Amino acid sequence: MISTLFHSHLFLLILIGMILWILATVQAQGNVSVGDFLSANDRNMTWQSPSGDFAFGFYPIQGEKDRFLLAIWYAKIPERTIVWYANRKSPATDRDSKVELTSTGHLMLKDPKDKELWRSESLTKDSQVSHAAMLDTGNFVIASNNSANIWESFKYPTDTILPTQELDVDGYLLSALDETCYNKGKYQLRFHEGSLILNQIDMFTGKPYNNYLSFETGSRLIFNKSGHIQIQNSTGSPRNLAPENAVPKPDSNYYRATLDFYGVFTLYSYPRNPSGGEKWSVLWFRPRDICRSFVDSTATLGNGPCGYNSICELINDRRPNCTCPPGFSFLDENNPYTGCKQDYTSYPGDCNPDGSTNGEDRFEFKPMSFADFPFSDYGILKPATELECRQSCLLDCSCAVAILQDPTVSPDGNGTCWKKKLPLSNGRFDRDVIDRTALFKVPKSNTSRTNQATPNPSNENQNQVILILSVLLGTSAVFNFCFLVAISLIFFCLYQRRLQYLDAIPSRRDLETHLRSFTYKDLEQATNIFKEELGRGAFGTVYKGELPSSYGNYVAVKKLEKFAQEGEKEFKTEVKVIGQTHHKNLVRLLGYCDEGEHRLLIYEFMQNGSLAGFLFGVLRPSWQRRLQIASGIAKGLTYLHEECNTQIIHCDIKPQNILLDDSFTAKISDFGLSKLLISNNTRTLTGIRGTKGYVAPEWFRNTPVTVKVDVYSFGVMLLEIICCRRCVEVEKEEATILTEWAFECYREGIVEKLVENDEEARSDVVKVEMLLKVAIWCVQENPFMRPSMRTVTMMLDGAVQVPTPPCPFLVDPMI
Ligand SMILES: *[C@@H]1O[C@H](CO)[C@@H](O)[C@H](O)[C@H]1NC(C)=O
Ligand SMILES: *[C@@H]1O[C@H](CO)[C@@H](O)[C@H](O)[C@H]1NC(C)=O
Ligand SMILES: *[C@@H]1O[C@H](CO)[C@@H](O)[C@H](O)[C@H]1NC(C)=O
Ligand SMILES: *[C@@H]1O[C@H](CO)[C@@H](O)[C@H](O)[C@H]1NC(C)=O
Ligand SMILES: *[C@@H]1O[C@H](CO)[C@@H](O)[C@H](O)[C@H]1NC(C)=O
Ligand SMILES: *[C@@H]1O[C@H](CO)[C@@H](O)[C@H](O)[C@H]1NC(C)=O
Ligand SMILES: *[C@@H]1O[C@H](CO)[C@@H](O)[C@H](O)[C@H]1NC(C)=O
Ligand SMILES: *[C@@H]1O[C@H](CO)[C@@H](O)[C@H](O)[C@H]1NC(C)=O
Repeated sequence: MISTLFHSHLFLLILIGMILWILATVQAQGNVSVGDFLSANDRNMTWQSPSGDFAFGFYPIQGEKDRFLLAIWYAKIPERTIVWYANRKSPATDRDSKVELTSTGHLMLKDPKDKELWRSESLTKDSQVSHAAMLDTGNFVIASNNSANIWESFKYPTDTILPTQELDVDGYLLSALDETCYNKGKYQLRFHEGSLILNQIDMFTGKPYNNYLSFETGSRLIFNKSGHIQIQNSTGSPRNLAPENAVPKPDSNYYRATLDFYGVFTLYSYPRNPSGGEKWSVLWFRPRDICRSFVDSTATLGNGPCGYNSICELINDRRPNCTCPPGFSFLDENNPYTGCKQDYTSYPGDCNPDGSTNGEDRFEFKPMSFADFPFSDYGILKPATELECRQSCLLDCSCAVAILQDPTVSPDGNGTCWKKKLPLSNGRFDRDVIDRTALFKVPKSNTSRTNQATPNPSNENQNQVILILSVLLGTSAVFNFCFLVAISLIFFCLYQRRLQYLDAIPSRRDLETHLRSFTYKDLEQATNIFKEELGRGAFGTVYKGELPSSYGNYVAVKKLEKFAQEGEKEFKTEVKVIGQTHHKNLVRLLGYCDEGEHRLLIYEFMQNGSLAGFLFGVLRPSWQRRLQIASGIAKGLTYLHEECNTQIIHCDIKPQNILLDDSFTAKISDFGLSKLLISNNTRTLTGIRGTKGYVAPEWFRNTPVTVKVDVYSFGVMLLEIICCRRCVEVEKEEATILTEWAFECYREGIVEKLVENDEEARSDVVKVEMLLKVAIWCVQENPFMRPSMRTVTMMLDGAVQVPTPPCPFLVDPMI
C-alpha cells in the first residue's frame, strides 16, 4: 500500500518534472514564422538549429545583471562561445527587449518602450518572406518565397567565421573590445589592395592604421566545411592558410576562426562529442608574435596590443600579457590592454626653456632587463658609457627611459644609448635581447619633491620643529632635561634601527652602481706616476689625472692611505654606496681601483678648486655667488642625510672639502669615506673625526654621532661664507672664535659689523641677518636643537621663516 502510494507519487513527480522541463526549454527547432518573437525576459526560449548545435536568442552578458546580447552561440558547449551578435555599436539590451520576425522580412530588435535598437538589412528586394531558420552551420537565415535568402548572419560576421562561411572582398571581421565586452574592438581582418591583412583601427575615427600582418594575395576568404581556412583570387584555386595537417578529424570537431580581442586571428576546434572538461584548442594562429608584429611590419605606429607606455609579453605563445613599467600604472585597472600612464605629474618649472630639467635630483633610474621600446627614440648616443647615458637622460626633461646597450657585450665594444620620450610605444619583453637594459626615469620615493615643488607639507614639518623648539625654550629646566633625554633615546633607537635596516639590504645596490674598476697601472699612467698633487686630506692624497670621461678630460685620483684593517669588504661596500649617489651638489665618483694594497678612488675633476681657496683668497667672491654656494651645499647635505639609499654622515664638512666646478656650483667631496676609517662597528666613535673649529661638541662627549654633526660644521662654514674669514683667527683678538663673535654681533644687533668691508652684503643686510640666524641655529651645542639639513635648505631658500635662535652655548657645569 505504502509502496504503491510512494510509486504513484514518484510517477507524478517525474511527470510534473518533465512537463516543467519541457515548458522551461521550449526551443523552436523548426522554422521561425512571421510574427514569432523572442523575449530577453524569457531567455530559455531560443531558436535552435535542427541538430541543436547552435542557438539564436538573448545571451546574458557576464557581470551585467539583466543585460543581454542578441547572439548566436554553440548550444551544446558549456564554455560560453558566441559566434555572432547583433548591433556592434551598443550590443547590450535590457531584459524586456524583444526580437521579432516581421512581415517585411526583417529581424527587428526593440527595447521595452518599442524603440527599434537594431534590424537586419535586406539582401534582396522584391521578395516575400517565407520563414527564418537557425541552420546547423551556425548561419541564421531569413528565407524568401523563392530560393534566395533575404538575410544571412554569415554575410554580416562579427569577430568569428565558421565552416562554410566566406568573406568576400568587402567583408571584414572586427574584434570585440575584450573578453566580456562586445563593443567594437581595435583590430580588423579585411582585404586591402588585393591581400588579406590584419590592421589596427584608430579608436576615435574607426580609420585603419597600416597593416601589422599581410596574408597571401586574394579576394576571397573561404572556411571550408572540413575546417580549412583558404584564400582564393579571382583566377586561381583556393590555397590553405594553415598547413593541411593542422586541421585534424574533419567531422568530429566544431571549428571556428576568431579575430581575438588582442589582435590574433585564431583557428579553434572543439570535439563534437565531448567527454567532459574539454576546452577550445588552438590549431593555428597569426601573427606568430603579436608583441613583435607591430615592430616587424609596416605598422610601426599605432598603439600596439597593450596600448601606450606598456610592456607586452607573450603568454601561452599567443596571448599578450601587458604590464606597466616602473613608475607607470594601468590607465584602466580592469583592462590591462588599454595602456599605462605615468604615476607622477610633472610640475611647472620641471622643464627649462632649453629642455633641461630643474628636478634632476628628484629622479632615479629603475633598471629592467629585456624591456625594449623599438621606434620611440628621439636621441641616440653612440658610443656611450652607462654614466653618459644616465646623465643625458636625467638632465633631459623629455627623456622618460634610456635603453643602454652594455658596451662590454656589444659586438664593437662601444655602448649605445637610445633616449626615448612619451608615449612609449610597442614596448615588449624580449628575452633574446640580453645586452640591453632599460633605465626608467622615475621620481625618487619620498624625495626632495616636497622641498622643491610643494613646500606645504614641509612647512608643517617646519612648524613642528619650531613648535618643539618653542616648547623647549619655554619650559622649565627640569622638564627640558627629561624631554631631551626622552628625545635622545628615541633618536638613538631610530638611528640604530636605521643602521640595522641598511645593513640588511646590501645586495640591491649592485644593479644601481655603475662604477668603472681601474687597474693600478691605468692610474699610474693617467696621473703620470702621481706627479701633480692637488691636495692632501684625512684619507690620503689627491692627484690630477688625465683620463677622458663624460665629465671632461681630467679626473681627480684619490690615493687612500689609511683604512681599517678589515677594510677589504668594507671598501667595496662603501665604494658602492658612494657610487650610488647622484646629486648636482656632490662630486661624482667615476671609478675605483682595488688591487692588492692599492685603494684609489677616481672622481670628476673640479676646475675651480676648493671653496677654501675661493673664500679666503685675495678676491672676495660676490655676495650672490656665496648665497648660491651656501644653498647648494645645504642641498647636497640634505641629499646625503635623507635622500640617498644609504644615509651618509659626512663628518668632515669644511671649505676644503667643498669643490667648485667651472660654473662655481658647489660640490661636496670626500663623503662616504668615514666608515672606512672607523673600525668600531657600534658607530659610537671614540676617535674624533673632523677638523678643529668645525667639529661638533658631541664628538668630545662620547655620545652617538648623528647627522647633526654635519649641521654643526655647516653652520660654522656658513658663518665663514658670510664673513669670508676663517672660523679661528688668532690675530683677531676678541673676535678669534668666529661662532662666538658672530653670536655676539647678533645679540647686540650689529649684524653689519660681520660684513664690514663688503658693500654688496651690507646693502642686503636682511639676507645677512637671515643667514646669520640659520648659522646660529646650526651651531647649537645641543645637537637636538639643530635643525635638519632639509629645514636649513628651506630656510636658506626663503621657503620658511627663520625663528629667533637661542644662545648656542650651553653653560657647561664642568667649566
Ligand atoms: C521550413 O519551411 C520551408 C518552406 O515553407 C519548408 O520547405 C521546410 O521543410 C520547413 N522546414 C522545417 C524544419 O519545418
Ligand atoms: C530557465 O531554465 C532553468 C532550468 O532549465 C530554470 O531554472 C529557469 O528558471 C528558467 N528561466 C526562465 C526565465 O524561465
Ligand atoms: C514571391 O513573392 C513576390 C512578392 O509577393 C512575388 O512577386 C513573387 O512572384 C513570389 N515568387 C514565388 C516564386 O512565389
Ligand atoms: C577543404 O580543404 C581541404 C584542403 O585543401 C581539402 O582537403 C578538403 O577536401 C576541403 N573540403 C571540402 C569539403 O571542400
Ligand atoms: C591567383 O592565384 C594563383 C595561384 O593559385 C596565382 O598563380 C595567380 O598569379 C594569382 N593571380 C593573381 C591575380 O594574383
Ligand atoms: C603577466 O606578467 C606579470 C609580470 O611579469 C606576471 O606577474 C603575471 O603572472 C603574468 N600573467 C600571466 C597570466 O601570466
Ligand atoms: C668605438 O668608438 C670609438 C670612439 O668613437 C671609435 O674610435 C671606435 O672606432 C669605435 N669602435 C668601433 C669598433 O666602432
Ligand atoms: C616613504 O614615506 C612613507 C610615508 O611617508 C613611508 O611609509 C615609506 O617607508 C617611505 N619610503 C622610503 C623608501 O623611504
